[in-house]
Amino acid sequence: MSSPAAQIHVLNGPNLNLLGTREPEVYGADTLDDIADRLAALGEQLGLAVTCRQSNHEGDLVDWLHQAQAEGARAVLLNAGAYTHTSVALHDAIRAIKVPVIEVHLSNPHLREEFRHKSLVGMAAKGTVCGFGANSYIVALHAAALL
Ligand code: DQA
Repeated sequence: MSSPAAQIHVLNGPNLNLLGTREPEVYGADTLDDIADRLAALGEQLGLAVTCRQSNHEGDLVDWLHQAQAEGARAVLLNAGAYTHTSVALHDAIRAIKVPVIEVHLSNPHLREEFRHKSLVGMAAKGTVCGFGANSYIVALHAAALL
């Protein structure tokens, strides 16, 4: 019998439910469902079971990080949206779990406003992929497959 596919949890934070219509010049035209479909297809090729979630609430993201650990996920891809720059709770949650977390951004925050230059998520994450639009998630899933 083949072993079950490694699980990758893709967690998305505030306002990412509006992808497709939200500042498309910054974030592109793909919706979060489009990205989830692409990740699921790539996951199948890589032998990874990908689940995608989105919440506008910080505590949900904290709970889902804990859940990734409880369920034995191989890795988490986390686009925490604006909480990236503010959330000590997410920083602590990433540090509290053993599951590697890959920080993901569609845009490159370093090229944008100064308040986006600091990442509390990135300071705790295994690594960061940013600036490639929806392809940031694709690159991050390839990275997760190497862990
Ligand atoms: C973002 C970058 C954040 O600065 C911003 O608050 C977002 C989206 C990105 O994917 O580029 O909501 O995480």
